[in-house]
Order: sequence, then structure tokens, then C-alpha cells
Amino acid sequence: MKPDCVRLALQKSGRLYEQSIALLKRCNIDIYHNYRQLLARTNEINLEILFLRDDDIPHFVADGICDLGIVGENIFREECLIWEQHSPNREFPAKLHTRLQFSHCRLSLSVPESFSYSLNSLRNRKIATSYPATLQDFLDRNGCNAQVIKMEGSVELAPKLQIADLICDLISTGATLEANGLVEAETILESEAILIQSTAFQPVSEAKQNTLNQLFTRLRGILQAMHSKYIMLNAPKTQINAICKLLPGAGSPTVIPLLDPTQVAIHAVSGEPRIWELMESLKKAGAYSILIQPVEVILP
Ligand code: PRP
Ligand code: ZN
Repeated sequence: MKPDCVRLALQKSGRLYEQSIALLKRCNIDIYHNYRQLLARTNEINLEILFLRDDDIPHFVADGICDLGIVGENIFREECLIWEQHSPNREFPAKLHTRLQFSHCRLSLSVPESFSYSLNSLRNRKIATSYPATLQDFLDRNGCNAQVIKMEGSVELAPKLQIADLICDLISTGATLEANGLVEAETILESEAILIQSTAFQPVSEAKQNTLNQLFTRLRGILQAMHSKYIMLNAPKTQINAICKLLPGAGSPTVIPLLDPTQVAIHAVSGEPRIWELMESLKKAGAYSILIQPVEVILP
């Protein structure tokens, strides 16, 4: 390991793997490794990647073995709750740094179709889950007395096998639930991929902090750009105000004169997610030749 090298923990396989690598690539960080290699170097910035099982990532970060980790928020929350139970006087030595806006899912209670759900219906029931601490926390906060059964995976099978009456598991598309004859009853946690940072050894060396800042700046730029579009359009000069009003969050749009003195071009960056609705409104306000392009990176 090079001195002052920043270590980032990634999931070695599974849902977050591909998208984590893709996000780093967009930050201009290429990872050189093959599937069996659990430690990889990167080009350009002083960053080393450790490939771990997802449950291990919060521990490696909290122990300070890794400075950063990319992990599902659901796993991070579970580990924070387990830590709180054992060390109520000391905060978990890892913190949420950035929400990464991919791998959205939710941790929900789901029941067989015949089960009529209410908080009261949970009384003395068995609930199978891979997230016992998060589930217990929900039950405690709602004054529910139910039995938590821990399962490492394939939780959806539990009701059929009569291991439990209902389950508490992750839902992304809902396909697994449907295939197993279960219906979602209540969401207990919304989750997405997050970047976590170690607080075990603070402050870090200046060289390491510089590398961290370099990485954070790139990530911020990419994440901001992810939902932004660069909009170019032409319009009659008389419509400048009406059109600029439709481009909120764009700072100040650029207005460029055209050869025809009655017309202008307007350029702006917009974070509006409903881009088709926006185009309709722009057209109604007199815009034409509207061109929309993706944005690669934004540095404020
Ligand atoms: C996860 C989760 C659900 C499923 C949800 O399981 O535990 O079973 O994905 O996804 P869906 O709503 O898109 O169907 P995973 O595939 O990670 O396997 P495991 O639970 O056996 O570890
Ligand atoms: Zn599953």
C-alpha cells in the first residue's frame, strides 16, 4: 500500500457492484482487477479498492481499515443499530457522506395474500428477515410484540415453509415478492446506495485529505450532472422573460443574439426531471428548434 493511499470498500459482487464501478469510471477512475482479485489499484488518483461482502463493508470502514465504502443504506442502518445496542455511549465510527442516487429499494413488511395486515395483526406473529435490528427498532417504536426470525437470504420462502407468518425484506421491482405470492404491507425504510466515511482516525494526513477532496469533488460534479440537461432553443426576443421563467434552477440563462434581430438563442442548464413537460411549456411560450443534451459534469 502506498503511503497516504485512500482505501475504498466496494461490494465484490451483487447489485451495487456494476453501478459502483460505472460511477467511478464517470469520475475518470479506472479500476484494474479481475474477478478473483480482492484488492485493486486505480489510475490517476491515490486510491485503492477493496472488494468485500456487503455486510462487511460498514465494519471495515468503522475499524478504519478502509477510509470509504459504497454500500446499501439498509445495510449501513442495520449495522448502526447493532452497534448502538452494544455500545450505547459511543457513536458508530462511520458516517453517511453522500447519497449516490442509484440502487433505490425499500425494506418492507410483506404478507401472504390471505393475511389482513395492521400493526395490531403483528402481535405474537413470527417475522422472517435479514435485517433483525432494523425490524426490531420498527417494532419497538410502534409498541408491537412480534418474534423476529433471522434468515440470511431467500426470506420470501419463509411463510410457505411455515418458518414465519410474514417477512421483512428488500423490494426493488417487486418481482420476487409477486413470484412468491406475497404483497407489500408497510415500508419501514427507504434505501439507496450511499458513500460512507470512516471517523475512526480523525483527522487524516494532509495528503490523504487531498485525495479524499479530489474524489468528493468529482463525485459531486457527476451526481449534480446526472439529472441535469443542457437546453438550447431559439425564440422571439419578446418571449425572453416568459421562457426564462420556465427554466428554474438554471442560474441565469445565456441569451445570444441571432442574425435576425427579432430572434434570440437561449441556453440553460436545467435539473427538471420531467423534460417532456418542460419542452411542451417552452414550445407554448414561443420556443422553437429546442435541443436537449445530457450534461457530463457540473462544477459550481
Ligand atoms: C433481494 C431482496 C429480495 C429481492 C428484491 O434479494 O432480498 O429478495 O432482491 O428484488 P425485486 O423486488 O426486484 O424482486 P437478493 O437477490 O439480493 O438475494 P438474497 O435475498 O437471497 O440475498
Ligand atoms: Zn432476497
